[in-house]
Amino acid sequence: MRSLYILNVIAGAVVALVLLGGAGELDVSAPQYDASGKMVLPADYREWVFLSSGLDMSYSEGSAAPDHHMFNNVFVPRAAYESFLKTGVWPDRTVLLLEGRVGAGNVSIAKRGLVQTGEVMGIEAHVKDTARFQGGWAFFGFDGDKPAEMIPTTASCYSCHQQHAAADTTFVQFYPTLLPAATKLGTLNPSYVAEEARSVRK
Ligand code: HEC
Repeated sequence: MRSLYILNVIAGAVVALVLLGGAGELDVSAPQYDASGKMVLPADYREWVFLSSGLDMSYSEGSAAPDHHMFNNVFVPRAAYESFLKTGVWPDRTVLLLEGRVGAGNVSIAKRGLVQTGEVMGIEAHVKDTARFQGGWAFFGFDGDKPAEMIPTTASCYSCHQQHAAADTTFVQFYPTLLPAATKLGTLNPSYVAEEARSVRK
């Protein structure tokens, strides 16, 4: 009887550990929504894997040099990152976050160049959730840390990412540790490959 009791206690502990471990993983990497379907800003995104920063990026030719500077920092949860390296696509329920941060020169001992400041201009999310979104992906734009409504699929976010992003509607051509994986695994977007071939011929 006594050994049965001990076995039960051990089995209970194992189940609890598995549940805790599973729930912990979910908290870190899965998108969270509030009761009205708005996306909740992941609180710990600065602890995720850093993919890259674009600086003063513009998508139109000949646009003037900006008089203020902005870095775009891109983050993704570690589990999703590791999965992309193995498969060349994002696992379901991946969140990618883009943080716009003000850049400044002449800070502290820096006489040249730009550094990132404490001022966040905006945060946008790109979320893969195939059970929830038609087409599998959705964009969100956050106002501070308030939950964000989904950006309608008619917005240019969707068409630019679909046409020009290198893999799985994400701009892997600008994420230097991911492009080799997508290239090797053959998951590059055909329209991106065609675009690259055209720009090489020019
Ligand atoms: C004209 C093309 C274009 C449009 C329109 C566009 N993006 Fe992007 N987006 C980019 C590029 C280029 C990057 C890579 C940024 C970098 O390297 O810093 C990017 C990256 C992102 C990322 C990081 C994850 C990823 O998918 O690579 C998010 C999040 C994002 N954009 C959100 C948005 C949202 C929200 C909108 C619409 C309000 C939008 N984008 C519209 C070109 C575009």
